Amino acid sequence: VATVTNVSANNNNNNNKNLATDPWMNAQSSPEQRARILMSHMTSEEKRSMLYGTGDGEKHANYVGNVPAIPRLNIPALKYNDGPQGFRDNAMLGSTTAWPSGLTVAASWDTETMRTWGEAMGKEFFDKGANVQLGPGVCVARIPRNGRNFEYLSGEDPHLGYILVQPVINAIQGQQVVANAKHYVNNNQETNRHFVSENVDERTRFEMYYPPFKGAIEAGVGSMMCSYNKINHIWSCENNSTLMTDLKTRMGFKGYVMSDWGATHSLSIEQGLDQEMPLNKSFNQESLKTIPQYIIDDTVVRILTPFFQVGTFDNPNPNEISNNVTSVEHVEIARELSENSTILLKNDEEALPLKAHNLKVAIVGTQAWNPIVHGGGSGEVVPAWVKPPLWSICDILGVERIDGSTSGSSNCNAGNGNCVTYYDGTDSPPPSVSSEFDAAILFIQTTSSEGSDRTNLTFGTSQEEMVTKWSAVEGKFFKKILVMSTPGAVLTPWSDRLHGMLLNFMPGQAMGDAITNVIFGEVNPSGKLPLTFPNKENEQEMTESQYPGLDNAGNATYTEGFFFGYRWYDKHKVTPKYSFGHGLSYTTFSYGKLSISGRTISCDITNTGEVYGSEVVQLYVGFSDQKFGSDQREEPVKQLKGFEKYYLSPGESITATLTLTDRDLSYWNVDSKSWSLKVGKADISVGSSSSDIRSNGVMNVQ
Ligand code: GLC
Repeated sequence: VATVTNVSANNNNNNNKNLATDPWMNAQSSPEQRARILMSHMTSEEKRSMLYGTGDGEKHANYVGNVPAIPRLNIPALKYNDGPQGFRDNAMLGSTTAWPSGLTVAASWDTETMRTWGEAMGKEFFDKGANVQLGPGVCVARIPRNGRNFEYLSGEDPHLGYILVQPVINAIQGQQVVANAKHYVNNNQETNRHFVSENVDERTRFEMYYPPFKGAIEAGVGSMMCSYNKINHIWSCENNSTLMTDLKTRMGFKGYVMSDWGATHSLSIEQGLDQEMPLNKSFNQESLKTIPQYIIDDTVVRILTPFFQVGTFDNPNPNEISNNVTSVEHVEIARELSENSTILLKNDEEALPLKAHNLKVAIVGTQAWNPIVHGGGSGEVVPAWVKPPLWSICDILGVERIDGSTSGSSNCNAGNGNCVTYYDGTDSPPPSVSSEFDAAILFIQTTSSEGSDRTNLTFGTSQEEMVTKWSAVEGKFFKKILVMSTPGAVLTPWSDRLHGMLLNFMPGQAMGDAITNVIFGEVNPSGKLPLTFPNKENEQEMTESQYPGLDNAGNATYTEGFFFGYRWYDKHKVTPKYSFGHGLSYTTFSYGKLSISGRTISCDITNTGEVYGSEVVQLYVGFSDQKFGSDQREEPVKQLKGFEKYYLSPGESITATLTLTDRDLSYWNVDSKSWSLKVGKADISVGSSSSDIRSNGVMNVQ
């Protein structure tokens, strides 16, 4: 039965007539069936034309990736754009929303927050006429200094990435935009990313680095991007083992693999690459004639299927890249996302939240006036405007906004006694500051970018000096608060001299109001660290062979296996500065005893404080003193295998319930090439962070 496509009347009726009768437009067929029917109507040349890009037009005045339309068959142009935290439009800066980055929203540990983020971003891609978002980034943060950690929603844990990526994929693709999980795989450093060989054994790949990509596959992701680096000395985009065997066969990926831009090294279609981007150095009309037709056909089906899946054929996208798609509503959403992701690292003497009455506050640091809100590189989205925290604080205190270009400028509002004074932080604190002010709020930032790793985990000399000086000020009633925006882990040597510390990673353009709402208690912070904060540089003592690699950084070998991040700290019994999963609240939560029935763990959680708040209940599993697999590898003390965010009013209790799957309790068996259950006694730990375990139990796994 020909399905009459319900198309709006417009000036290309001829097209619509075809749409209504083209056999691949029968929506009763599956996306793959429709793709196969369409492919069968394509000429060989048309098929080959889908396997490579035609560049990005005049630089950045067009989409980053383009595959031309085939009007004869109503095949729309494929329009790809960056990136993982929003639509990058360098020709129309400010025409899209600068969202919080992947690592930032991951700090919410909340699938609903992830969904909202994906939905809002996906809508802006659709409204810009794009049908592929080159994101989310999902690589596991193996290296604290990695320049792109800010883009990756997995943090340092594969299970966190596996769970959080799924609502993002569903939400982006729910906006008729194909999502792209990247960068597959082991693009875990930027140093020499174009040629480094990341040498990783199979079991480590499956247990530590594949899970976020597997989560994307289970959510139906339409595309993947293979990376610049090599894996075990073979280029990622021609690596039969990782692409054909692991991704497409063992993990069952049915979508298509595009190369990173310029990451194609050969006509590697039979090794698993489906499409060369951005151009046709190796994949082109001539070279593809040497490939058996059935392989071309299957590749075309892999490419077309996601576009049938998300609705690109059923609802042609009329939008243009010149559209301005940001909005007040979207900036409000960006604010809420940042609020949900803000982490309260420290709160001595209940310094926070500040009371917005009769408050005399010094705001210190240029990050309060010209805030850095995003990381750099292909994923950088420049916002139309950023309301600085200084203004947000003036607003909430009812004080006229201060022009932050003048250090020492201040403004008082006699009505409610509030007074705000801004210091850019270049000078020492005024001698009377601790008697003149109730509090100082220091704002600092550091950032990073694609293409290079951070040289250290500090904030740089001038900001470090500023914090050292201001945190040295003592005063009986003088509260010292620090807000830091970072692209990942940082060192915090001055923390003991501060009362309160807040972290918002790369918070996006609405960070001013978001952080102010947290500081003044409009919002109770609920974020949790998605990666460990160390005490010192290279605390995990990675050798050059591990990172950045030997042979002029061409060979990085993952001899640590599972043991990086909190797994390393547990193994070596080292206490990090701030633990994976750490984050405080303005209220407190108590945990009851565990009850374990089969694979389900439950525990009563109670808000024992005075204000509404949310708690991320974390479930860790360990198999201490047991070894599994033919390699009889040591097991990590504990691994994150479940979490859930619960919202509770003061005094309210709920029963947190988390269920473990076979996969959660399995190891990758390199002999059987499948998952094998870890049969034995499992140590179950439930708590508020990886180092704040509140309840323990034992599960017999069989
Ligand atoms: C870049 C990045 C990738 C991006 C692509 C297109 O080099 O590695 O994340 O999507 O090229 O800009």
